Amino acid sequence: MIDAIGRPQSLLVLGGSSEIAQAVVDGLVPARCRTVLLAGRPGPRLDAAAERARAAGAAVVETVPYDTTDVADHAKLVDELFDRYGDIDLVLAAAGALGTQAVLERDPGAAADLVTTNFTGLVSSLLAVAGRMRQQGHGRIVVLSSVAGIRTRKANFVYGSTKAGLDAFAQGLGDALVGTGVGVTVVRPGFVHGRMTEGMEPAPFATTPEAVAAAVVRGIETGAEVVWVPPVLRWVFAALRVLPRPLWRHLPG
Ligand SMILES: NC(=O)c1ccc[n+]([C@@H]2O[C@H](COP(=O)([O-])OP(=O)(O)OC[C@H]3O[C@@H](n4cnc5c(N)ncnc54)[C@H](OP(=O)(O)O)[C@@H]3O)[C@@H](O)[C@H]2O)c1
Repeated sequence: MIDAIGRPQSLLVLGGSSEIAQAVVDGLVPARCRTVLLAGRPGPRLDAAAERARAAGAAVVETVPYDTTDVADHAKLVDELFDRYGDIDLVLAAAGALGTQAVLERDPGAAADLVTTNFTGLVSSLLAVAGRMRQQGHGRIVVLSSVAGIRTRKANFVYGSTKAGLDAFAQGLGDALVGTGVGVTVVRPGFVHGRMTEGMEPAPFATTPEAVAAAVVRGIETGAEVVWVPPVLRWVFAALRVLPRPLWRHLPG
């Protein structure tokens, strides 16, 4: 059960090896999150994330095989986890891939796979989660969107459009769940230093997994519907959204 100050006691991460998700786990476990379920692609990264959650002090840590592209399996997996653990207070949707725009433009199949990874597979997973949380009457779903989805850039419009879809889905889901005891928090980080962005030129207002995690934890505690990281990006994108397209498409990067 999420306590009076908004702290969850159990967490399911979709994309359990994500660097941002691991930093969120680091923030939640000392605040009495006892159960950490890490759903992800089996391998050393997922195992290391489980070790890190145990080291942070979680009492129960389990890794669960999960691939966003196995769309037909998601409802069964979610049911099994909720049946086994009873209440799950918080679900963090962190799975995602950036892809390489030049490759994606040349290979429509790879582009479609990225859409499944970042969007379709999270739609199927989160609808299953929302159904179970609706039944339990409480919970929070946190979705890692991106500023890349606020206005797609020609430099990464395939990734950006997956995030635009995910962001729109998450907002609609949040509206549909009002009054059920279940809330949805959409998180919009800018450029985050880490594995996903390794070797790339940092964008203005670049941030870290730890800063994103701190903002996520605050967003959970306050029941925020949208979290921008860093917060200034809300105002930057308010301006960029209305920039005329001939100017927008000539911005660097
Ligand atoms: N880094 C940034 O600049 C940034 C900015 C804005 C938003 N975001 C979003 O934040 C989320 C977390 O990113 P991050 O920075 O923590 O990067 P990350 O460490 O690379 O995490 C990405 C996660 O997605 C998982 N994943 C990829 N494809 C998957 C699939 N088909 N099935 C299941 N899991 C899959 C990865 O698992 P494996 O370990 O198996 O690859 C990993 O756990 C992503 O949704 C990303 O789009 C990131």
